[in-house]
Amino acid sequence: MGQGTPGGMGKQGGLPGDRKPGDGGKKDKKYEPPAAPSRVGRRQKRQKGSEAAARLPAVAPLSKCRLRLLKLERVKDYLLMEEEFVASQERLRPSEDKTEEDRSKVDDLRGTPMSVGSLEEIIDESHAIVSSSVGPEYYVGVMSFVDKDQLEPGCAILMHNKVLSVVGILQDEVDPMVSVMKVEKAPLESYADIGGLDAQIQEIKEAVELPLTHPELYEDIGIRPPKGVILYGEPGTGKTLLAKAVANSTSATFLRVVGSELIQKYLGDGPKLVRELFRVADDLSPSIVFIDEIDAVGTKRYDAHSGGEREIQRTMLELLNQLDGFDSRGDVKVILATNRIESLDPALLRPGRIDRKIEFPLPDVKTRRRIFQIHTSKMTLADDVNLEEFIMSKDEFSGADIKAICTEAGLLALRERRMKVTHVDFKKAKEKVMFKKKEGVPEGLYM
Ligand SMILES: Nc1ncnc2c1ncn2[C@@H]1O[C@H](COP(=O)(O)OP(=O)(O)OP(=O)(O)O)[C@@H](O)[C@H]1O
Ligand SMILES: [Mg+2]
Repeated sequence: MGQGTPGGMGKQGGLPGDRKPGDGGKKDKKYEPPAAPSRVGRRQKRQKGSEAAARLPAVAPLSKCRLRLLKLERVKDYLLMEEEFVASQERLRPSEDKTEEDRSKVDDLRGTPMSVGSLEEIIDESHAIVSSSVGPEYYVGVMSFVDKDQLEPGCAILMHNKVLSVVGILQDEVDPMVSVMKVEKAPLESYADIGGLDAQIQEIKEAVELPLTHPELYEDIGIRPPKGVILYGEPGTGKTLLAKAVANSTSATFLRVVGSELIQKYLGDGPKLVRELFRVADDLSPSIVFIDEIDAVGTKRYDAHSGGEREIQRTMLELLNQLDGFDSRGDVKVILATNRIESLDPALLRPGRIDRKIEFPLPDVKTRRRIFQIHTSKMTLADDVNLEEFIMSKDEFSGADIKAICTEAGLLALRERRMKVTHVDFKKAKEKVMFKKKEGVPEGLYM
């Protein structure tokens, strides 16, 4: 045990002792330096780390990390933004696409000609019955982009040229033909420009203007004012001129139509135009409707042969209907003008319709003098001009002829660069005008 112990001790002691002097010296030198630096290194690091914890800002890796963190956070922000953007893109695209599609469809429709029709009946939200000027009525769809609130039976609509669906509404609810007829700018001619014709002026004032301005006068007496007047007489006697003067002086709305305008291409368009005309006149009342050259539509009934003639008569019948139809036209007065009253339908002129006939005769001596005065008032006349010679002449002049003579004389003086118009000019001019009149050569044919 003792041996064992010392032996063991020895061994134990010896072993380290053995190792220490022999191997230990070598091994210590070899072992320790590698062990020591590793330990030292770790400790140094730990020591330095713990020391560094106190003074962190100076340490480079941490600030690098922080920078990196900030950078990553930024990237994350960007990615989030991107995600949001993409998501909203997904959400918004369908409606955008749809509007785009709709728009291109509308553009397609807008680019091609559209037919104009009128709406007969609205069936439901997206269907309606329409009719165009030609042909039958159609049951068609109403496009989604059409403002349904503005759709009402009778309004003018735009239709697709092939499928006839309603693609738009014509804002102007008045027929464009009728809106053109309204006289916006009063003509320059006034009553003062009319020579003579005093009785005619008086009559037209009584029949047309007075009922509009002083209806109570007629009520007092207990008669209904006439619906209108017809002006008739030779060409160039001042019928259109008088109507212009009325338009100039009246404060009422003045609508003017030429009879030939009422003749339309398609069946039913002419009567429709007449209806529209009177409807507008009623809307804008008090108003005066002036239809010049009424013989274009107002010829005698029952002797028409072709379809076109019959259509013209239907237009006139509509005119009759409007004159004494069910709708009262209290504040609408009608002036007709023609130079062929004998060819007009008697129904148009019977009492109760246009029963006031105002004749425009060829001017007498006094009137001629007045007309000459009016037309020469702005001309520079030489002293030798004696207008009485023409005024008293036996030839038949109309007002238009007198105007033509004055104009012609002025042109002759102009040709010779004279500042004054002489008597010879007037003489030549008169001969020329009379010659043309007799020959029946239309004035201006050779000009
Ligand atoms: N009484 C008149 N006073 C002044 N000028 C007149 C008169 N009558 C006619 N004129 C002149 O003659 C021109 C033609 O007259 P107007 O156009 O009124 O003829 P009209 O009677 O309508 O003829 P038509 O039946 O051919 O239409 C007028 O522009 C005007 O200058
Ligand atoms: Mg005329």
